[in-house]
Parts: sequence; structure tokens; C-alpha cells
Amino acid sequence: MAMSTQNQLIKNFSMDDLIRIRGGRKLNGEVTVSSCKNSVVAILPSVVMASEIVKLYDVPEIKDVEILKKLLGLLNIKVTADGDELTIDPTEIINVDLLDEDVMKLRASYYFMGALLGRFRHVKMYSPGGCNLGPRPIDLHLKGFEALGAKIKQDGNVIEIDAEELLGDDIYLDFASVGATINIMLAACFAKGRTTIENAAKEPEIIDLSSMLNKMGAQIRGAGTSEITINGVSRLKGCIHDIIPDRIEAGTYIIAAAACGEDVTVKNVIPQHIEALTSKLEEMGVKLEQGSDYVRVYGNDDLKAVDIITQPFPGFATDLQQPLTSLMTKAKGDSHVEETIYAERFKHCKELNSMGANIDCETGNSYIHGPTPLHGTDIFATDLRCGASLVIAGLMAEGLTTIHNAYHIYRGYDSIVEKLRALGAEIE
Ligand code: EPU
Repeated sequence: MAMSTQNQLIKNFSMDDLIRIRGGRKLNGEVTVSSCKNSVVAILPSVVMASEIVKLYDVPEIKDVEILKKLLGLLNIKVTADGDELTIDPTEIINVDLLDEDVMKLRASYYFMGALLGRFRHVKMYSPGGCNLGPRPIDLHLKGFEALGAKIKQDGNVIEIDAEELLGDDIYLDFASVGATINIMLAACFAKGRTTIENAAKEPEIIDLSSMLNKMGAQIRGAGTSEITINGVSRLKGCIHDIIPDRIEAGTYIIAAAACGEDVTVKNVIPQHIEALTSKLEEMGVKLEQGSDYVRVYGNDDLKAVDIITQPFPGFATDLQQPLTSLMTKAKGDSHVEETIYAERFKHCKELNSMGANIDCETGNSYIHGPTPLHGTDIFATDLRCGASLVIAGLMAEGLTTIHNAYHIYRGYDSIVEKLRALGAEIE
């Protein structure tokens, strides 16, 4: 970006869009992980399928949740918050068209497609937005709806999906897509007969959503495996649900602790959800202690270069590749990141290079040559996990780092500034 455009951008943002970090402080103490963004953003739209009140506990305070609450409001669903508890009353729902710009502010608004199609056999809405990670088609979602009997019309940015009736079918996904698995699962809850999703995604968020839907009376078996079976029902009742901890937030704090910590305990973690990360960190030389619901990280400045390949769960999560890259700048030798999910998810590398990193990038790959000390400067969060990687880099860097476009970070990290400050970071 030309410097003048960048300066203009800086002027246009309010102070809320900036995170400032004076790096080099050692992190110590405990940090508690919030509930899972990618679960809650599927759970909230799925509430349109309930005929009774749904109560959710431990809902994270993040921008994506704020936007989804507004979209539920457009459907005449009442959402009442009491701290981190949400009471959602869908009993007077009206299936209006979701032609509101908020739909385009996040990816997960696409879950209204499966949920409203299932409940009302009709949905009309804008295409979803979300982080710019290169092309993010939704063809597998739409093919799945068609297999259940829906007809789809697309006019520019507007998608309209109708079905006289939904009939269960055997659906094979060409790729184990998280979004397509969830969307088809939602619509299939109200399809007549049995739907089977083969080559389904196995992410923990899918298990969390299916366990909530089953409490509501759905009949879903096999979530968390590559074959999910859904026997259709005609009605879903209300329920009370606790959302699982956020494995990507947990991973982000564990990496930050590995980068700048002396002795940090990350609490409210399901260690099995982040095994691909913790085993890679151990290979780098990070000392970890794992309990049933925590990971304790001990600082170590003598780190080895490693290679990672991002893959669907239980492989190394694409969402943690960007935060880990910041730590890799500290490791001795050449690290390699092969990104198989989003070939263009490398915008953080340019920002890290402006802080003194030595990273080469090409489509699908980045090569990190370390160790390189980082220095503070003005940098730009271009997407959520890029933002997380820049926060870690800012903690590691000497001097002052100013992260612009920090709103990307608030989409997915509850109280990140406060949590890091409590660990001893100088951040505002
Ligand atoms: N894909 C298709 N066609 C489809 C759907 C997906 O080609 O119809 C491709 C995508 O282009 C991508 C790959 O399949 O290359 C994976 O996409 P997937 O559908 O699994 O991802 P998603 O549902 O769009 C969710 C998370 C992402 C996370 C990915 C992968 C939500 C709201 N988003 O996205 O989270 O990176 O799964 O695990 O759950 C984030 O939290 O920062 C984030 C981007």
C-alpha cells in the first residue's frame, strides 16, 4: 500500500482501532480462555430452529457475537444478556430477508442459510463476508442444500434458497469443509428421513453444535467423525448449553507465552483439541506441562526451527499458522509453513518483515529464516489471525508497536488487551 494511502487510513480510524504494545516484558501468571468463537457463531444462527427459549452460558464478548445478535433481532428474536449468559427467545420469529450489510461483516452469517432453510423452507440473504483469506466459495454448502431438494437462485450478492420439501440424502463432501458440514447438518435436522454426510469435517466445534442440537431434540450421530448421520425431526425445543473453550484462543496465548513468557498457565483448555500445536511446540524446544484443563508454559530462548502443514482437524489448524509464524522468527534455522486450506493466508508475513523478520512467501508456503530480533513499528492487521500474530510479534519486539485495524482482532478475541496486561504485558 502506498504510504499516503496508509496515512489516510490511519487518520480515518479511531483510537479504538489501535493496539499499542511496548515489547520486551516477560509474561507471568494465569490467563483463562473464553468460550469458542467458531462454536458460538454456529450456535447463535441455529437458535432460529428452536420453538422455545435457548440459554447459553459463557458467551464470549466478541464483535462477531454482537453482529449475530443484531441479525437475530432482525428476525424478531429477543436476546437478553446477563453478564456472559444469553437468553434467546425465538418464539415470535419472523423469517424476513436478511438483506442487511451486517450479514457481510462475518463469515458465519451463512449458517442462517441452513437453519432458516430447515425451519421455513425459504431463505433470502446476502452472501457472507469474513476475513479476506483469498477465495472462499460456498459451493459445497449449496450443493448439499440442492441434494436435500432445495432450489437456489443467485443474483449478484443475493442468494435465495427455496424447497417445497427437504428429503434426506447421502451427501459426499469433496473437501471436509467446516462450514458445509455444519450448514448441511442444520438443514438436514428438518429434512424428512435420513441424511448422511460423508467426508464430514471433524472439528470440535461441530461436536459442540451437534450436542446442543441433540439437547433440543435433533437426532445427529457421528459428529466428530467423517460420517455424520441425521434423522430428520419436525420440531426442536429449547435447551441450556455451555459452549466449549476456544482452542484457537488457547493456542494463541500458549504461543505468546512460548515467545515471551517465564511461567504462564493457560486455563480452560481442552488439551486434546490442540495436540498438533503442543507437540510442534515441544519439537521447537518449548517446555510445557499439561493437565486435564490447562497448559503451563515455561519460557525458553533456545528454540529450533520446525515445519508445519495446515490440515483439517486433527491436523495443524490453519488459524494457528499465523500466530506460530511470529514465534518461528525466534527459532534458529529455517522453518517452513505449508498452508493447504487457504493458499493466500500470508498477509501477516509482510507486516512481520517490516518488524525485522526474514520471511519469504509464495502461494501456499512461507519460509521463515531465523532467528531475527523484531523491532516495533506501525503495522496493519489485515484479518483476525494476522492480528493475533502481530500482537505476539509486538510483545516480542523491542520498542513500540502500533497495530492498526485492530477491530479484526476484537472479532474473535474476548478482552485480549486486558488478559495480556494481567500477564504483565505493556499493552493498551
Ligand atoms: N471450500 C470450498 N467450497 C466450500 C467450502 C469451503 O472450496 O463450499 C474451501 C475453502 O475455500 C477453504 C477450505 O475449503 O479452502 C476450508 O473451508 P471451510 O469451509 O472448512 O472453512 P470455513 O467454514 O469457511 C471455518 C472457520 C475458519 C477456519 C476454517 C478452517 C468459522 C466461522 N470459520 O471456516 O475460521 O479457518 O473453518 O478450519 O468457523 C478464523 O477463526 O479465523 C477462521 C477463519
